[in-house]
Amino acid sequence: MKTSSHLWLLLLSFLSLFPSCTSQQTEVTSPNGHIRLRFLQDEQRQIYYRVDVDDTPFILPSRLGLKACGGLNLSDGFAVTAVTHDQLDQQWTMPWGENKQHRNHYNEMAVQLRDSMGSELTLRFRLFDDGLGFRYECRVPGVDSVLIADELTQFRLAQEATSWSIPASFETYELLYRTLPLSQVETANTPITFRTPSVSPSCQADTTQRIYASIHEAALTDYPEMTLQQIDTLCFQANLAPWPDGIKARFAGGAFKTPWRTVQIAREAVGLINSSLILNLNEPCALETVDWIRPMKYVGVWWSMHLGTESWVMGDRHGATTENALRYIDFAAQNQIDAVLFEGWNAGWENWGGSQQFDYTLPFADFDMERISRYAQEKGVRLIGHHETGGNVINYERQLDKSFAWYAHYGVHDVKTGYAGGLPNGHNHHGQYNVRHYRHVVETAAKYHTTINAHEPIKDTGIRRTYPNMMTREGARGMEWNAWSEGNPPEHHVLLPFTRLLGGPMDYTPGIFDLLYEKAKWNPNRKQWNMKDSKDCRINTTLAKQIALWVILYSPMQMASDCVENYDGHPAFQFFRDFDADCDASRALMGEPGEYIAVMRRAGERYFLGAATNAEARTLHLSLSDLQPGVTYEATIYADAPETDWVTNPTAYRISKQQVTSEHTMTLHLAPGGGAAVTFLPLNETTNP
Ligand code: NOJ
Ligand code: CA
Repeated sequence: MKTSSHLWLLLLSFLSLFPSCTSQQTEVTSPNGHIRLRFLQDEQRQIYYRVDVDDTPFILPSRLGLKACGGLNLSDGFAVTAVTHDQLDQQWTMPWGENKQHRNHYNEMAVQLRDSMGSELTLRFRLFDDGLGFRYECRVPGVDSVLIADELTQFRLAQEATSWSIPASFETYELLYRTLPLSQVETANTPITFRTPSVSPSCQADTTQRIYASIHEAALTDYPEMTLQQIDTLCFQANLAPWPDGIKARFAGGAFKTPWRTVQIAREAVGLINSSLILNLNEPCALETVDWIRPMKYVGVWWSMHLGTESWVMGDRHGATTENALRYIDFAAQNQIDAVLFEGWNAGWENWGGSQQFDYTLPFADFDMERISRYAQEKGVRLIGHHETGGNVINYERQLDKSFAWYAHYGVHDVKTGYAGGLPNGHNHHGQYNVRHYRHVVETAAKYHTTINAHEPIKDTGIRRTYPNMMTREGARGMEWNAWSEGNPPEHHVLLPFTRLLGGPMDYTPGIFDLLYEKAKWNPNRKQWNMKDSKDCRINTTLAKQIALWVILYSPMQMASDCVENYDGHPAFQFFRDFDADCDASRALMGEPGEYIAVMRRAGERYFLGAATNAEARTLHLSLSDLQPGVTYEATIYADAPETDWVTNPTAYRISKQQVTSEHTMTLHLAPGGGAAVTFLPLNETTNP
């Protein structure tokens, strides 16, 4: 229920009188001094924080604390026992992109609190130039467990904003984004991104005052996910995914730490993307070796099943047959593609939609694993395994070690997992139980030098820093939705980079070339397999935008998702041949959430640029200053043609070439729902044949 918004004004004036009950310095600023966070307490010794940006209130005094069960107090009556300050300025390296080099530069303040019963709570705040994070570290003496009933963390925003988010759900992130005034957002999942003030970006008057921010979390490995609920005007409170008995989090022993609550802050929208804040708040790499973890481009026996022309289950229309597998391996070998994915290869698909009991070491009779893996090895192509659980994590955990060992025996060290279906025993997908499961899978996979691409995952909170074998994941509406629903609208792809992808890479699986399903439509084998399927399904972009999305929607495992026959002989597929998923450095050049974006990435000596728009046509003038100075590049531009329009003429495209250097500016015309992709190859380098 919303209380009067006058209350906070009262609270604000009151709190400013009592910055804290100690004489110690209870504020911390970002290294550049622009962001200031203060710790506050009121008369009941409840705890609060506030944030100012350039001396202007940004987050008004907002409640902190946890509600515990069994008379344990973690929310008020605290005395501050110490306040310590620290700082760090450190470079560190990721084994793969989208940036390999990161700077972790922050000022830290740890406020140590104790209540009369002896419970200790440390609030650790870290202030970066591009935002902040804070977390709770608890120590309760003399107990064998702590049960958390609720988290009281609030974000009380100082002013109205335009926001982009999906509604909160503890089961799925595969929802459409909403553009809403912040005050109208009842619930949201994170990242929720917003721009203040809530005027259009073209409004010149306020550009210097404009703030882009995104609330999210970092290092979610043993806690439920945090969603947000608006409990008072512009005041959002954490709402955690519960266990079946209503408890939010449980810990054995009396000591635990929560994930970081994060607020990224930037003066430009692309500043949120060009930020390492989420990764910086994760623990350093926990794996002993990482040389076995390699980014890749892949194709797969996949899209045909979503279109309904082939099936996961064995039968007349079976997709993952030995014959099909060998055909895909040949295609990969001939087109500089590292790997091939097969879905529907193992026993259990016959129960799809019912009680899922997949067997992860029993291939269907028409999928000859021995032969396929030998052939792949001969051709130098990797295989990507698939573990669909249908939500039955108990069945999966029972087979986990055995399944990874079985795959490893056949040389399979990359596995796509899936959780399409309800969990057993009343658990939800995003509660602590399943967060632990997802982490357990990543840790077990690491033992077998295996990487993970998780579908229906827990949201990305940057744990790839700690476990770099956690490479990519879904966690938003991906390509599959275009096969059997109204599809993803043109703004979806220019919202994802400013929301979902702030957490980390996404296995969106771009690159459908048969945009209108011309081939599938006439296929007599096509069967509707999903209730949302409709005859009007199509891809809601132009062809050039599909290519651009390979660059824009970063994934270290990047898929060309169409059936390979739709790429055979297609001139525009040269882009994917030349593309390198092993990206060293990236920079978002310009963009506005839901409107457009342009991103430049470097992989070795090569550069790739992707630009895309929503349903509006636009022209972008892009400085090429990211290119290596002094080098001349051959730029190959895959663009919309003058007559292209995502509704009426989506397949029209043009390929052109230019010689450019870092001194040049490139002008790209994007059709409605369109995009452009560019490869920059140093002149002495040739394209992949
Ligand atoms: C949903 C996943 O997102 C999709 O990629 C997969 O093909 C199906 N589940 C079946 O596992
Ligand atoms: Ca999915």
